[in-house]
Amino acid sequence: MGKEFSIEPIEVPQVDTRYRRITTALPAPESIQTLETLRNVEPISMRGQPPVVWDRAEGFQVHDAHGNMWLDFSCGVLVTNAGHGTKAICDAIRDQVDSGLIHNYCFPSEERAELVTLLQEVAPKGLEKVFLLTTGSEATECAIKLARTHGIAKGGDKKIGIVGADRGFHGRTLASQMTGGIPGQKDWIVNLDPAIVQIPWPDGYWTEDTSFDLFLKTLEERGMSPENVAGVMFETFQGVGPDFAPVEYIQQLREWCDANEVVLIFDEVQAGFGRTGRMWAFEHYGVIPDLICIGKGVTSSLPLSGVIGRTEIMDAYPPGSMTSTHTGNPLSCRAAIASIRSLIDEDLIGNAARLESVLKNSIEAIAEKHADIIGRTSARGLVGGLQVVKHGTQEPSHDLAFDIIERAFHKGLLLFAPVGAWGQTVKLAPPLCINKEALEEGLEILAGCVDEAVDALE
Ligand SMILES: Cc1ncc(COP(=O)(O)O)c(C=O)c1O
Repeated sequence: MGKEFSIEPIEVPQVDTRYRRITTALPAPESIQTLETLRNVEPISMRGQPPVVWDRAEGFQVHDAHGNMWLDFSCGVLVTNAGHGTKAICDAIRDQVDSGLIHNYCFPSEERAELVTLLQEVAPKGLEKVFLLTTGSEATECAIKLARTHGIAKGGDKKIGIVGADRGFHGRTLASQMTGGIPGQKDWIVNLDPAIVQIPWPDGYWTEDTSFDLFLKTLEERGMSPENVAGVMFETFQGVGPDFAPVEYIQQLREWCDANEVVLIFDEVQAGFGRTGRMWAFEHYGVIPDLICIGKGVTSSLPLSGVIGRTEIMDAYPPGSMTSTHTGNPLSCRAAIASIRSLIDEDLIGNAARLESVLKNSIEAIAEKHADIIGRTSARGLVGGLQVVKHGTQEPSHDLAFDIIERAFHKGLLLFAPVGAWGQTVKLAPPLCINKEALEEGLEILAGCVDEAVDALE
């Protein structure tokens, strides 16, 4: 799985609309030198995205330096929820640089105090402590550690089990990847921790049985009894879809965690900060987790992540023993404060909720027209996905998903490379500041790309 996009320029039709402009061959011939430098110096793993050399990005558009402009349905990778280069965020970062403080490790700062207070305010009551980190994987690793530490405190050395989900993704570091459920990604680990297991994710497509009984049955099959489980960590929606679990399932899970002193962790690294039309995606389930992992959309820009949770779990470590070098970097803190305020004050979360039907209806229409190759679609707020399969089967098709995305790139619609356990999903995630007209234009282009990709199969 995972292909590289060609960096041989090809002639493509010119595009000139209010939201998209393509005036050169693609990739732009003048950008080839940069692309080649990157290919020569970086590992092959970095070749995964459409070859546009970003020059600047604003709102929901990305520009190269050669006159091309893409309507962005990527947000990088679901980062720029408040929009690219939002003025309030840029001003806050500039102001922080001018203030003379750009790094302070774990020494206290007003910026960190302001951000953790804001995060505590937007988190549900009861989740009172906020620990800032840098990457999403760092946040999920930390949550796993906190859950295990809590488990040991409650039930001794045997209560260290961590339950993740098949096809789940929590990052590319050791524990995050072991907790995730994408088998090919774990080959390098070899001696997997037997206390980290996966259950089938109840999406109703790849896993037909969506009952909570399947959770209980699978745990038993994996030889893990409730008293040995320290934590359950799920993406609030599985990124591949977005695929939510049934509400009832998660409510039963919450009860089961309470009954067995198990820490319930929602990984909101991708799902949080308004993406689904609510501040937190777990609001759709009507439950509150014990720990929330945050990242990506928290700043709409600079690196920052974190864990928000119950005091009893978060306060497990004494002074100086749970830290990270860039914890609460003041630039990132200012960016996060400005981004969260934009999401709330400009009602961008409401915009995501209102535009959900536009996104959903369009991708459902594509799926209906191409039922043979679109196995499943889903959308919530401003995140949607088309899971592409081989003609008339339920076998994932990375190649076809890739082809659709490459065609979109050539027409001025920017999507990131296919995602999912088999790289089968064309994922749609525009900035939450997008307007209806631009969203509709992008979806129309996407529909045309699917038509063309299907025609090319014949
Ligand atoms: C749900 C989820 N968790 C964790 C991560 C890891 O975040 P990072 O790449 O910042 O380490 C990602 C990244 O895609 C994610 O989608």
